[in-house]
Amino acid sequence: MKISIGIDIGGTSTKYGIVSPEGKVLFQGSIPTQSEAKFEDFIKILASEIKKGLDPKEHKLLGIGVGAPNANYHKGTIEHATNLRWKGILPLANSLEDEFQVPVVITNDANAAAVGEMIFGGAKNIKDFIVITLGTGLGAGIVSNGKIVNGAHGLAGELGHTTVNYVNGRFCGCGKRGCLETYVSATGIKRTVYKLLADHTEDSELRSVSFDELSAEMITKYALKDDFIAKKAFEYTGRILGTKLADTVVHSDPEAIFIFGGLSLAGDLIFNPTKFHMEKHLMPVLRGKINIISSQLQNQSAPIIGASSLVIDMINEKESEI
Ligand code: BGC
Ligand code: NA
Ligand code: ZN
Repeated sequence: MKISIGIDIGGTSTKYGIVSPEGKVLFQGSIPTQSEAKFEDFIKILASEIKKGLDPKEHKLLGIGVGAPNANYHKGTIEHATNLRWKGILPLANSLEDEFQVPVVITNDANAAAVGEMIFGGAKNIKDFIVITLGTGLGAGIVSNGKIVNGAHGLAGELGHTTVNYVNGRFCGCGKRGCLETYVSATGIKRTVYKLLADHTEDSELRSVSFDELSAEMITKYALKDDFIAKKAFEYTGRILGTKLADTVVHSDPEAIFIFGGLSLAGDLIFNPTKFHMEKHLMPVLRGKINIISSQLQNQSAPIIGASSLVIDMINEKESEI
């Protein structure tokens, strides 16, 4: 059977899977990303875990697709990652090619999610859309006329590091202040909860939770139970996201925006304020025309499928060149 490998490098864990051409995950697993290992050792551990699922008699490996934060599609590198502990320029594609002797395609993690959405998810019939991923950071994959936008430097869609607060903004892992992802992401909303707890005297179950214990799922759980601070945190997050999206859409005029990742599982809690504030700031002629929806690949293996579908994309592209 022809197979591809999909890898999703996240701020917390790295997920991998062996995927059939139909997008079925045949084998999968994950390892922590933030280990003490050096980058080269991390790649060795990752490769040996994946090889456990490879059967040289059964499988014909077509290639490897990787979605990674701060990935440069043109060069196959991760460059100055905001939320990873390895700094500088990481030769990700070359390292994996050395391990597996097959073509490796690397793209931004949010771009991988967008490719997955296009091939297997909710964007099968949509040519212009954006996928926003809300995890440790905030990523964006922009699809224009059926194609991922990579940009001159391979870094198109770095929406998480556009500024939303120009005065005393929160510090960001990228070295700037006031970046969108310091407010809108799984970590951003945690920072918001702490700010709100300091600014308000209302009762909240979140008061007794430490920053390390606190998670987006927990904030969601309490918001659903009507917790004042948790609900306010979602309103605040949605307001900033919606306001930013109203500006973002002018670059590509998408039909839909898919939201992917843990925070989007909060449903209306995040979608309602996001929609409200996007509509409010949209130029009137665009109002009511851009859908904000939850990703249809919203499950454990989605990032792996997205990354592996890059291989199909790469092969299609090569064939269309011939
Ligand atoms: C990175 C992006 C990435 C996003 C989500 C951001 O900090 O700059 O490249 O897509 O996090 O992981
Ligand atoms: Na992107
Ligand atoms: Zn930043």
